[in-house]
Parts: sequence; structure tokens; C-alpha cells
Amino acid sequence: VKTHYHDFVVQATPVTRLCNTQNSITVNGQFPGPTLEVNNGDTLVVKVTNKARYNVTIHWHGVRQIRTGWADGPEFITQCPIRPGGTYTYRFTIQGQEGTLWWHAHSSWLRATVYGAIIIHPRDGTSYPFPKPNRETPILLGEWWNANPIDVVRRATFTGAAPNVSDAYTINGQPGDLYNCSRKDTVIVPISSGETHLLRVINAALNQELFFGVASHPFTVVGADASYVKPFTTTFLMLGPGQTTDVLIQGNKSPGQYYIAASPYQSAQNAPFDNTTTTAILRYTGSTSSAPLQLPSLPFLNDTNSVASFTSKFRSPRKVEVPTTIDENLFFTVGLGLNNCTKQLGPGRCQGPNGTRFTASMNNVSFTLPSNFSILQAHTQSIKGVFTSDFPAAPPLTFDYTGNVSRGLWQPAAGTKVYRLKFGSRVQVVLQGTSIFAAENHPIHLHGYDFYVLATGSGNFNPRTDTAKFNLVDPPLRNTVGVPVNGWAVIRFVADNPGAWIMHCHLDVHITWGLAMVFVVDNGVGTLQSIEEAPEDLPLC
Ligand code: C2O
Repeated sequence: VKTHYHDFVVQATPVTRLCNTQNSITVNGQFPGPTLEVNNGDTLVVKVTNKARYNVTIHWHGVRQIRTGWADGPEFITQCPIRPGGTYTYRFTIQGQEGTLWWHAHSSWLRATVYGAIIIHPRDGTSYPFPKPNRETPILLGEWWNANPIDVVRRATFTGAAPNVSDAYTINGQPGDLYNCSRKDTVIVPISSGETHLLRVINAALNQELFFGVASHPFTVVGADASYVKPFTTTFLMLGPGQTTDVLIQGNKSPGQYYIAASPYQSAQNAPFDNTTTTAILRYTGSTSSAPLQLPSLPFLNDTNSVASFTSKFRSPRKVEVPTTIDENLFFTVGLGLNNCTKQLGPGRCQGPNGTRFTASMNNVSFTLPSNFSILQAHTQSIKGVFTSDFPAAPPLTFDYTGNVSRGLWQPAAGTKVYRLKFGSRVQVVLQGTSIFAAENHPIHLHGYDFYVLATGSGNFNPRTDTAKFNLVDPPLRNTVGVPVNGWAVIRFVADNPGAWIMHCHLDVHITWGLAMVFVVDNGVGTLQSIEEAPEDLPLC
């Protein structure tokens, strides 16, 4: 095992896309940012220096951070932000995870441009559970705004309206051939005849679930969220923001050029129509053919059935130990809402639908970040007044979650509420989507843990009948689960990692509106069940 040292300098860098130059916030001037490559068991030490004019933190998405919760990164959850001019060194060890994860800013909407891949090779002396690929390429799906993304979210927070959507989707930072001014920069991914190529696909988009495919080259899916899966074949993927999927493709087609493409999955019925597609090119080495490129055929933008059948293919490679006794049986609604808006807020601040403001919540609580201490610091030092421990185990009232509900029924209350878990407790969470405003697929991400996804389904979760659908044999291990539009997902994990762990929708617009909560997991017995001491350079507020 090795220790890898990296310097991340967060700084403004001119980046040109779509004939438009932005002074974008980058790491080391790179967009997307640097790829971190390690083996399972290695330690990463990343010194982050903030030379930008915004507060920043970096989150190592999907890294379990066992006992090192101080290095997790979400601002005001596990640390205060790194102020302009400040530094913070993140130290953590990869324990048991192999495959693809990623890192991103976890502060306002900075992750629009501040993100990169984390590649985790097998532990020294071991190999992949599939034939070693000849080549590996990270594929980062993203979004580009011609405006400054921080200004976009600030305006939306002020007006209460939905923020502007992005101007392009991107693959490894480039919009591709189908966008203006982009053709000369389209990303080329090489492949040689006869070789196997591992694509590590990451959805780093801010607010968009995406379909992904390669023309004429079907995928063998071998991993997701840094866990291996039982291999299966498919012609397309769907990834919610936060999710990763590792696929093998074979260089067995006539040598030439094939489009790699991603296009939106829009589960919300009233979402604005968007048929834009970002592309890269799979090019056979030595190919001289300039035959016309073909696009992969991807599902139509609202094809929820294809998403459901794709999702149902994920299995762990073998039988796993799913906790069968449950200590904490939780039921969380996840969804959007609208706050009645008093004109007292001031002019221009009620520009949501019918003079309201958009909001979002879990169990009717719209999560608000603290500002004077991080939740983890308040927890470990018993500082009062930063959060309350009354996040409800179930919604305050039951109703037809996926039906037509009057908007007046449910306006969430703002709060900084956590749910406390005893060390080692076995937790089940039913995540129930709601249709209070628009129903849509929510990619729900939990920090500090991987969880088993026992089942997903449509409609209202029925505890009497839907438990029969639970996969207790070989459910997939994930860190981000898509709660289907007008449906539910059930996850289980053992709370064996002490700390403060945010669970949130990975559509950033929904976090902005409050679609988040925090689990505080107490220390167990002895050092090995306790969080480490806070690092000396931990940024304070
Ligand atoms: Cu990748 Cu809290 O997020």
C-alpha cells in the first residue's frame, strides 16, 4: 500500500465553451480536474489551497471515510468552508472499495466546474474479477453554463423561482459535435481492434440524469459506485448525478469512428423539453475511414420503463450479508414543494409558480445548513444550538404520496434536524417519492456508507406486500439510489461509521431547496469504533 500526495489549488481559470469564455473555478487550472488513481488500501493526502474568491470544500464522493469523517467535505456538515486564502489537508484511506468514484466541490454550485475522477484499482496482489482490460478511460458527464453557476443559483435563491438550466451537457468537459463552436474540441477515445476497453462512467452533472451509450458497442456492466456487480449486458446506461458505472466494451467492430453520447432522462412530466445530446468519438486506432458517424440509440427522454428495467439488472456478484433484523425502520418522503410567499420578503422574491417559492424536503423538513459550527464539530464537542436531534422517523402525516395532492396540504418547515443512530444499529430506510409539486426521479446519496438497495417500485410503498419484493440475497451495494418518479426505494446499512453524514438528493437544485437530512452516528466502544480526533488545520467558521 502507498500514500499518494496531491496539491489541489482552487482558482479562477478562463475556460471557453460554446464560444463563450467564463472565468471558471477549477482545480490546478484543469477542467475537468485531475484524476486521482490509487489502489484499494492506499491513503490519499490532498492539500487544498483556496485561491478563488468563494468559500470551497472538496468531497470525495463515495469514499467511506471510515473514522475519518473530518475529511468528508460537505460544508457546514463535517467542516466549515475553506475561506479564500485558506488551506485544508484531507487525509483518508480507501478501505475495501474498488472501481470508480469521484471528487467534487461541496459548496454552493461550485461543483459545476470543480470535479474529477477517482480510480481505485484492485488491492495490491489482486486483480479484477473480469479479464484485465487493455485500456481504461474515465468518462465524466457534466453540464456547462454560459453564465457563472454561482450567480445562477444566487439569483434562484433570491427569486424563489427555478434556476436557469445549463447551456450544454458535456463529456470530459466538452459539449461535442452537436453543439455550436464545439466540434474541434470533441473528445476522442481511442480503441484498437481486438482489445477490451474499460469505461469508467461518472455522472457529474449538476441537475440532470443522463442516458449514456456508444454506437454499435454494447456494454458489459461490471461495477457501480466502486463495488463490483454481477456482469450484465445492455446497450445503454442511465446514471443519476453522483452515480458511477464501469463497463467493458470490445473493439470488435469494423475499424472506424463511433459516437459516444449522453442525453437527458427527464422524469418530471412538466419539465421543459430538452433533446440535447453531448458526444465524444470512439476512434479505432489506425482507422482512416471517414464514414459518417452514427449516434447510439438511447431511450427517449421520458422513458421511465427503460430506466426501471435497466435498474433492475444490478446485483451483487454473489450472496451478501444483508442485515435481516432491523433496529431502525425509517420512512422518509423525498420531494418538492412550494412555500406560500409573503410579499414581506421584499420585491421580486416570490417568482415561483403562482407567486410561491420552490422548496424541497424529507419528511416535511427543508434542511438548512448551520453557519457557525459544522454539525460534526457541534456533535463531537457537544456544542448546543447548532442542530436539533428531532428529525422524524416517519412523515408527520400519511397521504397518497404519488397522487394529486393539493398544494396547500404540505409546506415544509425549515430546520437543521438530524437523526441519531447508535453505533452498529441496523437501519432500513424506505425512500418514498412524492408528487406534491412535480414528481420526479431523485438520486439520493448517503455520505459515509454504501447501502444495499433491496428494491425499488412505483406508487406508494406498501409495507404488507412490497417486502416480498426485497432482494435479501444479492442486492447491489451503492452510495446513490434513484428513487423512481412516483415511486420508492428501500435501502439497508449498518451504522458502523461514527460521524455526521448527510443524505441528500444529488440534483443540486434540490439540495439548494432543502432536500437533505443528516444522520449523526455515535461512537461505539473503544478507539476502533470512534471517530478520529479532528485534524489541527480543520477550518473553523
Ligand atoms: Cu457527491 Cu453530498 O455529494
